[in-house]
Amino acid sequence: MGGRIVARSCARLCFNLIFMSLNKPHSTFNNPTQFIQGWYWALPSRELKVGRVRAVTLLGRNLAIYRGVSGQVVAVDAYCPHMGAHLAEGKVDGDGIRCFFHNWKYDANGICVDIPSLEKPLPVSIKTWHTAEQYGLIWVWVGEEKPYLLPFVPELEQADCDYILGTRFIKNCHPNVLLINGIDAHHFNTVHNLPLEIVFDSKELNPNAIAFSNTTKGGDDSWLIRLIRPLYQNEVTYSMCYWYGSTGTVTLGPDFLHFYIVFALRTIEGGKTEGQTVLITPKRDGCLGWGINRGLLWLTQQVGNYFAKGDTQVFQTIQFDLKTPTKADRSILEFIQHFNRQKALTWKTWESVENVENSDRNYPPTSLVL
Ligand code: FES
Ligand SMILES: [Fe+2]
Repeated sequence: MGGRIVARSCARLCFNLIFMSLNKPHSTFNNPTQFIQGWYWALPSRELKVGRVRAVTLLGRNLAIYRGVSGQVVAVDAYCPHMGAHLAEGKVDGDGIRCFFHNWKYDANGICVDIPSLEKPLPVSIKTWHTAEQYGLIWVWVGEEKPYLLPFVPELEQADCDYILGTRFIKNCHPNVLLINGIDAHHFNTVHNLPLEIVFDSKELNPNAIAFSNTTKGGDDSWLIRLIRPLYQNEVTYSMCYWYGSTGTVTLGPDFLHFYIVFALRTIEGGKTEGQTVLITPKRDGCLGWGINRGLLWLTQQVGNYFAKGDTQVFQTIQFDLKTPTKADRSILEFIQHFNRQKALTWKTWESVENVENSDRNYPPTSLVL
């Protein structure tokens, strides 16, 4: 009996230590001045036609993003090394870009290849960033290290997909705070009236991705759950996979029909969020398959809207500070630990965050005693 009390006190102490660490000033979690090195959505693919250039501010840094004649997307630092004109004022020339001001041309690797007033170009270049296109969005790899995996829905890793873009939104809180809503187990009951208890199991897929999956069937006292019970054999599918702590992919639904929603987020000025949702379903063959998919994507959007609507107000006013955690907040802690272990960069400069000791990166510990 006494042993149990001691064990419980130790567990509580451990739990509290973890929470105290969340508010450390150098924690990357919910920090408007830092973010994780990774892939970030820049703009919808359809908004960048061949031969066009767009000005994009990504994580505080100004870029010019263009699509060359070959269809290749190139992202470069915005300001021309000659006199600082914004390159999005310029023109796409082949797979390169020509500055508006004095017509210097930079190729797809950022190297200056033509200066009209000189016989030979000068040895100057503009910084380029890796790009990719996935789920209808253009993504930019933010970081100096070699690009790692693009965010994807784990169940659809190998699948050819149909997708539509959902809403583009601004929220008055940090992307981390918005994303953990997807694993805030208790709020599904209090806000979204879900008639079953959600209990997550977590799995780190790689150093930059962590998935949380529901493990319960539950809800037998609900007529709705009893009604749809024959449609699923196992636990109710609800899983959330986080990439670089900024993109979340949701998978939910009965066994025979899973819905997939991607929340692609990034931090804007003041630590707020700019986001874009993407609704996805695996490709189905023929005209019938195409028609079915239009219906399914519409349905997916309604599911997403339902869950987004309930929380709208709280994200306008929240001052996130997890002071009094409970057992139901356990997954949120696991997310924060995973997040804080990733390589952090500085908002606006994209430089590596310094003065962070390894011991701090590894704290809080991965194992949570409750
Ligand atoms: S400022 Fe770009 S060419 Fe002069
Ligand atoms: Fe919610």
